[in-house]
Amino acid sequence: MSAEAAAAMIAPGSTVGMSGFTGSGYPKAVPLALAARIEAAHAAGQAFQVRVWTGASTGPELDGALARANGVEFRLPYNSDPIARDRINRGEMEYFDLHLSQVAPLALQGFLGPLDTALIEVTGVTADGDLIPSSSVGNNQTWLDRASQVILEVNRWQNPALEGMHDIYTVGLPPHRQPIPLVRPGDRIGSPYLRCRADRIVAVIETDTPDRNQAFRPPAAAETAIAGHLIAFFEHEVARGRLPPGLLPLQSGVGNIANAVLSGLLASRFEGMSAYTEVLQDGMLELMDAGKLDTASTTALSLSPAAAARLNAEMDLYRHRLILRPQEISNSPEVIRRLGCLAMNGMLEADIYGAVNSTHVMGSRMQNGIGGSGDFARNAYISIFMAPSTAKGGKISTLVPKVSHVDHINQDVQVVVTEQGLADLRGLSPRQRARTLIANCAHPDYRPGLQDYYDRALRDPYGGQAPCLLAEALSWHQRYVETGSMLP
Ligand code: COA
Repeated sequence: MSAEAAAAMIAPGSTVGMSGFTGSGYPKAVPLALAARIEAAHAAGQAFQVRVWTGASTGPELDGALARANGVEFRLPYNSDPIARDRINRGEMEYFDLHLSQVAPLALQGFLGPLDTALIEVTGVTADGDLIPSSSVGNNQTWLDRASQVILEVNRWQNPALEGMHDIYTVGLPPHRQPIPLVRPGDRIGSPYLRCRADRIVAVIETDTPDRNQAFRPPAAAETAIAGHLIAFFEHEVARGRLPPGLLPLQSGVGNIANAVLSGLLASRFEGMSAYTEVLQDGMLELMDAGKLDTASTTALSLSPAAAARLNAEMDLYRHRLILRPQEISNSPEVIRRLGCLAMNGMLEADIYGAVNSTHVMGSRMQNGIGGSGDFARNAYISIFMAPSTAKGGKISTLVPKVSHVDHINQDVQVVVTEQGLADLRGLSPRQRARTLIANCAHPDYRPGLQDYYDRALRDPYGGQAPCLLAEALSWHQRYVETGSMLP
């Protein structure tokens, strides 16, 4: 049927579980039709909003269109759309960002309320009624299991060769959970298909629309330097016998910096690498092309338009080395801990004791969300956070006396890297961490100020294991808000 007819089946106030993880595999026609319906209702003076659950961020036809129409009352779990971000930060959209591995169990337990509609993009439907997933898996099986009605978008743009690349395995709820039998990133433990009872499917829409992931910008000098420091660190760990020559399964987070680091690994000597990650960005495809990355497990193909076109044109080269899994598995703490992932995630800021803020600019404005960074950081073999040492043209130091919001406590942050250098914080006390971070990672414009703050904190009569000047701890942020720069 038409997208408009399908959108008419979504009631005001209802909850819709949509596919989509980054700009991949999200429904592209019904959300647009729903946004038009919401706009018409608002123009007629009627209230109309829905609650939206997804895998993670999506594309402009979903988050952008619904946010523009002011059609979303509540959204989870991760957003990177700028219009939705503005509404979240103005308090016009309730937003709950949570560890991505925890979305499916929370929904299954019923804590999030009923799920009225599942709106899922698929590549196709087999003659037996099995659903061939598209370029992301996310929480699709959970939405299909829980929703009262199901709307499918069959997207002809998705490559038919995706059939067989997915591995759908669900965990269920305690006390019936079993160990997840996955011991290598390439293991297959489930079915290549999503399953759904036919009597729940109320609409099937056909589309022919590309995924919309943004192109990555070429690595900036700072990002190339970060990659260089990381490669030197990995080489050192291999030389010490603490990492095998092909490293351990790589996890690489979202964004430009993470992608730049992967591109940097191209120039490294490591061979026979693997990835156990939630997003597969261009850099990983390049590592596969170079014969350095053997296997990659992910929940989404988050490729730029050029890389997606290359993958689609030469799918046979990649299809046996790529596995797409539900995010409950790609981000499973149990599996991450077992495999010993090397987690590399971007951050907004870290403080001198090594706590990390990944989400809230100046302590209050949501940037994107925690995504999978917490799933990986706590459970990784080595948990690495990286950022240039300054942001906004040098007006912000990404190393601060105290982070303005905490996503990752210092125990979950083992290595911090900026273009200035790398701080290996494993086994260090808070005071040792502070000395190492200031010396290795701070920008020269901010290093004296950080050292001065720390020295005075050490002399503070209140003292303590991790000395802190309470009245000054967030003064750098306050100065930025007031003057547009953290510099005095
Ligand atoms: N204060 C204020 N703004 C900051 C900042 C800081 N300390 N550090 C970075 N920013 C801004 C940048 O200026 C940029 O703003 P712009 O979009 O207006 O240009 C924006 O944040 C993104 O920074 P960028 O340098 O482009 O880095 P990125 O694309 O690598 O993203 C994060 C960095 C932290 C936003 C991103 O990694 C993220 O969302 N992390 C949380 C989720 C996550 O880690 N998932 C991992 C599992 S996939």
